[in-house]
Amino acid sequence: MLETTESSVTAVFPVDHVKVSRRSEVDYNKLKFGDIFADHMFEIRCKNGEWSQGQIMPYGPIEMMPSANILHYGQGCFEGMKAFRYKDGDVNIFRIKEHHHRFSNSCKRLNIPVVPLEVFRDAIVQLVDLDRDWVPGEKYKALYLRPFVIATEEFLGVKPSTSYRFYVISGPVGNYYSEGIKPIRLTTMPDYVRAVKGGVGDAKAPGNYAASLKPTQEAMNQGYAQVLWLDAMERVYVEEVGAMNMFFVLDGKLITSPLTGTILPGITRKSVIELAKEWGMDVEERPISIYELIEASKSGRLTEAFGSGTAAVISPVGYIHHKGDAIQLDQEKMGPVAKKLYNTITGIHHGDVEDPADWCTVI
Ligand code: PLP
Ligand code: COI
Repeated sequence: MLETTESSVTAVFPVDHVKVSRRSEVDYNKLKFGDIFADHMFEIRCKNGEWSQGQIMPYGPIEMMPSANILHYGQGCFEGMKAFRYKDGDVNIFRIKEHHHRFSNSCKRLNIPVVPLEVFRDAIVQLVDLDRDWVPGEKYKALYLRPFVIATEEFLGVKPSTSYRFYVISGPVGNYYSEGIKPIRLTTMPDYVRAVKGGVGDAKAPGNYAASLKPTQEAMNQGYAQVLWLDAMERVYVEEVGAMNMFFVLDGKLITSPLTGTILPGITRKSVIELAKEWGMDVEERPISIYELIEASKSGRLTEAFGSGTAAVISPVGYIHHKGDAIQLDQEKMGPVAKKLYNTITGIHHGDVEDPADWCTVI
């Protein structure tokens, strides 16, 4: 049983508490990803650029008009973050400022007013503190946080909304993939593309995910966990996976696709690059052809492939299919570079490894 810890956070927003917590109904030994939600949520509204008073309320249905922009034109964006339990009971919210920075860029691309850093940070800190008993006590589990903003104006013309709502919901999670930390299998889908330069591929916009559902379902029907997206122009260069950035260990160097506007600038990707450079590894952010990888896998120069993401953490990839050919790696276990990153990042999450550079907000 978790003990209720006394709050260390100054309340900024008024709270309408749940009458009865649902916490005790949840089996923490069977956590999956994204199907359980904690007691409370945060809401703040914006009208003509002015943010009103935010509030915390019981998690539940939200009302809006059927003509709301988000329901038709998808003007909205979101973030994915996590809070982790330290051994001493403290709770760590990981890289809040980085997530706010990316969220702001997503908002700007979607023509949505930026949610001020103080609102974003204070709302998340107060909400996590209020629902801190929902943060799993066990290592590798977390309270997933989903901040999101939606356009709510009642108007069917295609134009930016004059009203918005920003919410934060949360829920306890285990592994993102059913494989756990066993290597997953990917396939390219050269008939489909995820994003083009100048589009919204580098924003966390709902449409990116909606457009990925059909190709992902086709990949799953063929026995793969996810699609490995290739660039939209030549359909040769590796971009990313539905919920993670990709890394390859080639000739001992760590290689990842550059941020050229078509992939999400992952916070875990940034953390991986920062750690690997600190360890003295050569890190290259450069276009990577799928054919270069197939060749390197056949000649033994490609030793590891893994994805990085908030939900996925570090997920090894054991097999990548492309047009009848394949990249084959260890299909049973994580390679040494992925393992070291996984241990270090999860160590930082849970306070077992020192916070390298103010990545942790401990409450
Ligand atoms: N790429 C996509 C498309 C994602 O949805 C995510 C998850 O947020 C990532 C990459 C990884 O980003 P992060 O490490 O910030 O979670
Ligand atoms: C995350 O890793 O936080 C994400 O947002 C991925 C998600 C689409 C499940």
